[in-house]
Amino acid sequence: MLFTLSIISTIVSLASALILDTPSSQWYSGEEVTVTWQEQPTGDPVFTLVLASSVTHIGLAIAGDVAPALGSLAITVPDVQPGSYVLEAVNVTNDSDIYAETASFDIL
Ligand SMILES: *[C@@H]1O[C@H](CO)[C@@H](O)[C@H](O)[C@H]1NC(C)=O
Ligand SMILES: *[C@@H]1O[C@H](CO)[C@@H](O)[C@H](O)[C@H]1NC(C)=O
Repeated sequence: MLFTLSIISTIVSLASALILDTPSSQWYSGEEVTVTWQEQPTGDPVFTLVLASSVTHIGLAIAGDVAPALGSLAITVPDVQPGSYVLEAVNVTNDSDIYAETASFDIL
């Protein structure tokens, strides 16, 4: 587990400064939740918020053109297969360009 997390943070740290907070508890499909992050003093680009499977990394965009200065965003958890997920902040025009990623958390 720790090994996996350190690989993710190594990959992400190359490209990003933004820190996305990992949800502190499991989510439920259809529930309203608040996603939070920390913007860096140097500034971060506007991003797309993606919910991705922590296994396949196939994702679903859940919010576009998010301004980093907001610091948080209320979203409704999409109706997805129960499982382990991560949130990613990605470049609005290139979703392979990942600025930040959370640790995995469960959606039930
Ligand atoms: C986002 O991706 C595009 C295409 O790869 C790139 O041209 C642009 O500079 C990137 N934006 C940021 C803020 O990194
Ligand atoms: C998208 O981002 C990835 C990762 O940064 C990069 O390798 C790729 O060249 C970019 N694609 C485009 C079309 O710029």
